[in-house]
Order: sequence, then structure tokens, then C-alpha cells
Amino acid sequence: MVSSSKDDMMSETAENQTEPKGATTHFGFKTVAEDAKADMVKGVFNSVAKRYDIMNDVMSVGVHRIWKNSLIDSLNPRPGMHLLDLAGGTGDIAFRFLDAVRDGTVTVCDINAEMLAVGQERAVAQGYADRAEFVCGDAMKLPFDNRSVDAYTISFGIRNVTRIEEALSEAFRVLKPGAKFYCLEFSPQVVPVLQKAYDTYSFNVIPKMGEMITNDRDSYQYFVESIRRFPTPQKFADMIKAAGFSRVGWRSMSAGIAAIHTGTRI
Ligand SMILES: C[S@@+](CC[C@H](N)C(=O)[O-])C[C@H]1O[C@@H](n2cnc3c(N)ncnc32)[C@H](O)[C@@H]1O
Repeated sequence: MVSSSKDDMMSETAENQTEPKGATTHFGFKTVAEDAKADMVKGVFNSVAKRYDIMNDVMSVGVHRIWKNSLIDSLNPRPGMHLLDLAGGTGDIAFRFLDAVRDGTVTVCDINAEMLAVGQERAVAQGYADRAEFVCGDAMKLPFDNRSVDAYTISFGIRNVTRIEEALSEAFRVLKPGAKFYCLEFSPQVVPVLQKAYDTYSFNVIPKMGEMITNDRDSYQYFVESIRRFPTPQKFADMIKAAGFSRVGWRSMSAGIAAIHTGTRI
């Protein structure tokens, strides 16, 4: 039987698990050893990489495209700009950026080689390969120089990172002074009038869709749970400030389902 609400899900998963030893974190509604999470997240994206793009279109009814285009509009791409797109996966943000600025360049960095391989194939097929590089790396320990990028984006990636504070510090480190951090991410709550319908769609429909389209229900169960574990926009803004950023703010979209968070390295 499918659980009818987020609360049912939380109590179910809490009852069924044994507490791991040492430092812990969350993987959806489960508590897991901190050093196990990255591999679990890798497992999720290895499993869905090839069907990831189509699943995004189906479960968001195409709306993720509007959110991603809004992210590129906020970025205000300029000639010669070099973007670092973290957790860039299959290249969705990178290619939109390259469409918006003729001589821009992008580094797509992701911890998952399978997702990058799909992105690289798309880059070749769609003619972006000479302006895009693909680097396997962890948002918490970036293989890039201090003050080396003109902008940093992370779209639907940061909630998967084990220690978000470390990813934010790394973003700050690699940005040039005056450059901006942009994060597109789901928010845990929507406007109250839609909350019930949103919960039903999230917990009862999306995992089933995941099963039908990617043959992987569990990954999409993790997906909906991880959204609910992500901080509220205000809390996340506080974390961005704590990493050293100035002019921190966010813009909520689609009744609060997603938000674009920004900060500037002064
Ligand atoms: C939901 S996908 C988002 C892909 C793309 N940015 C988009 O908006 O369609 C999340 C991505 O985050 C990546 N990821 C998770 N943890 C990461 C980490 N610690 N460092 C870098 N990438 C990570 C995953 O491998 C996956 O490709």
C-alpha cells in the first residue's frame, strides 16, 4: 500500500531503521552514516541517468524548463563569461547558458560520471562540445582555483550534497570578487492552500511515475523525501550568508515549489 502522507512516510522509515554509528546525516527520511551518503546519492543518479531528462519533463509537466530559463535570465549572461555549473548532470543549465551567450564557456562539474557521460553525448550531438568541459568532482572539494569563475550555478543539486555548508564555502572560494552564486532548488513547503495536493502528488504519484519511466521507484521516493529535508528559503539564505556571501536573497516560483537563491562574493 502507498503511504498517504509525508508524516506516514516519516514514521514508517523511522520505525524500520537501525541507527548508524558515528556522524550521521539524512538520505531522504532515513538517517544514514555521513560517509555513506555520497555513494547512496551516486546510486540514485547512476540508476536514472539515461531517463533523467524525460522524467523531469513528465513529473514537472515541463515546468522545470521555465525555472531553468528563469535561472539563466537572473544570471544575465555576458560576452566572454565563464560559468561553473555544479551538479550539472546532463548539461541542462550549461546548454541554456551557451545558447544565451555566444562566446561564453562553461565547466560542468558533477560527482557522477554516468550523468556527465549523458551530458557529454548531448554536448557533441547538439554542437556545444567546443565551449563546454565536463569535470568529475565533488561540490564539497572543488578541483578549481581560488577566484577563477565568473558565476557559479547549482540547479537541483545542493540538496543531495552531504555537507551543504562545505559546498557553499567552496562556491565562495572559486568565485571571483564581485561574482555571483545562483542556486535553483526545491523548497520544502508550498503555499498552504496547495500543500495537501502537493503532498499527494509528491508521495503518491511521483514514485509511481519513477517506477514506470525509469524502472526505479526508490530513487524517486528519495527525490520527494530529500525535498522535504531541504531547509526553508530563509534558513538556506542564512547558510549562504554564513559562507561569506553578501546581498543574499531568493525568489520563490510556482507557489513556492522552487526558488532561485543568490549571493554575491564581494
Ligand atoms: C537532480 S540532478 C540535477 C542535474 C542538473 N543540474 C539539472 O538541473 O537538471 C542532481 C545532480 O547532483 C549531482 N551531485 C550530487 N551530489 C553531488 C556532489 N557532492 N558534488 C557534485 N555533484 C553532486 C548528482 O550526481 C546529479 O547529477
